[in-house]
Amino acid sequence: MKPKEDAFGQMIWAYYKGKDVFEVWERSDGYITVDPTKTYFSEHKDWALHQRKAMQFVKGRVLDVGCGAGRHSLHLQKNGLDVLGIDVSPLAIKVCRLRGLKKTRVMSIEEMNFKPSSFDSVIMMGNNFSLFGSFRKARRLLRKFRSITSEDALIIAETRDPYKTDNPSYLKYYEFNVKRGRMSGQLRGRIRFEGYISKWFDWLMVSKEEMVEILNGTGWKVKEFIESEDAQYTAIIEKCKRRGGE
Ligand SMILES: C[S@@+](CC[C@H](N)C(=O)[O-])C[C@H]1O[C@@H](n2cnc3c(N)ncnc32)[C@H](O)[C@@H]1O
Repeated sequence: MKPKEDAFGQMIWAYYKGKDVFEVWERSDGYITVDPTKTYFSEHKDWALHQRKAMQFVKGRVLDVGCGAGRHSLHLQKNGLDVLGIDVSPLAIKVCRLRGLKKTRVMSIEEMNFKPSSFDSVIMMGNNFSLFGSFRKARRLLRKFRSITSEDALIIAETRDPYKTDNPSYLKYYEFNVKRGRMSGQLRGRIRFEGYISKWFDWLMVSKEEMVEILNGTGWKVKEFIESEDAQYTAIIEKCKRRGGE
């Protein structure tokens, strides 16, 4: 990633340095959302119940994919787990290190390079199931996760059900996606912060049924869903005993 493309990292860095900043996300059709950056620095006690419950499943050697400012990694490290945080943003990783995360790597989910059986848990929190980007890419990366994790490994992944909305702009975007052969919740967008603009990337939000369909045949299956009061939910995903299914 070129430094001028690390808009997310610049935003995280600015907050770390004491500025009150916001995350601006621009969808491909120009729709903009603005969310407080402070969420990425929130403490375990402030997390939603479905997120705290999900953390109870995390075990052993942990890979935190898209770790951001490290809130989940730091919590797990404090509880004695062996955690590696990876993120495509060099500045986010710098902030993780400064905040005390011992094991970090600047690495994208697409370029993960680990030995077989390196991890017992993979966490994808902060809606990071969406980093899978598309149906096909998700299935390719899930197979990769299979090879780098131990026999009883879990993936703990959070996303939002895209259909739990009555926002007409989102509903229209889903229709547009379906027409061009994409999943409804496959949102193309980019992050903006001051003069910095990230590359366009696909962010895949899925319903529970769609998640089950994506996992089918990848060697992973849903153990349980942990619901929240809104569209967000966490999936506890376990390894099938035999590759390809039950
Ligand atoms: C929504 S934030 C979640 C951060 C963190 N998990 C949390 O909940 O606080 C998404 C994170 O994924 C990172 N990211 C985006 N694309 C990525 C990719 N292709 N590979 C790895 N990390 C990526 C971003 O830099 C950002 O830190």
